[in-house]
Amino acid sequence: GVGWERETIKDDWPGYSLDLFTYPEHYHDDIESVYIPHGVIMNRTERLAHYIMNDFQDDNIMVLCVLKGGYKFCADLVEFIKILGRNSNKYLETRVEFIRLKSYLNDQSTEDLHIIGCQDLSFLRGKAIVDTGKTMKALLKHVETFEPKMVKVAGLLVKRVPNMAESLTDYVGFEIPNRFVVGYALDYNEYFRDLNHICVISRTGKMKYKI
Ligand code: HPA
Ligand code: MG
Repeated sequence: GVGWERETIKDDWPGYSLDLFTYPEHYHDDIESVYIPHGVIMNRTERLAHYIMNDFQDDNIMVLCVLKGGYKFCADLVEFIKILGRNSNKYLETRVEFIRLKSYLNDQSTEDLHIIGCQDLSFLRGKAIVDTGKTMKALLKHVETFEPKMVKVAGLLVKRVPNMAESLTDYVGFEIPNRFVVGYALDYNEYFRDLNHICVISRTGKMKYKI
């Protein structure tokens, strides 16, 4: 079996030096360190796929991907689930739907959560789903109204904040300090999504892309 192991990134983790990795030239002055390298993200995501395969046995999986920040994680997670299925002759049907949430301005969470697109989730009725992303509570409430058979939440990152979303998240990639990170589809005002690693923004980057 696959036992649950948590991966916790400590408060004082400075990240890796930029000199160790490659990243887009146009962000040269805008990032301070590589917080979680792409390869580590991929390995951890493969491990989460193992947990999920274990839990779902022969239920099909309806994946609800939370855009935009969740698209990389979702795509990679689903791919690993499919590969594991191929290698173990346990083929689960995976279907992906998308929902778009927006709540951040600059590096601050705002009060208003916008659910954009795909509000009719009736395809979930009687289905087991895995959900990826953050801003989860409001979404879960919405999802539950469609009465899926089982709902599981996968989040690549869970931040250590007073009301941690951890209890809502069944599959956690990394528990991290409460700091703002970008890359691997996570943005700062729509910038940095094209960065493969999860990184910490520099002061210059914060100023440059501030609204
Ligand atoms: N980075 C980008 N988007 C986010 C974050 C973050 O750290 N937290 C919530 N949305
Ligand atoms: Mg965002």
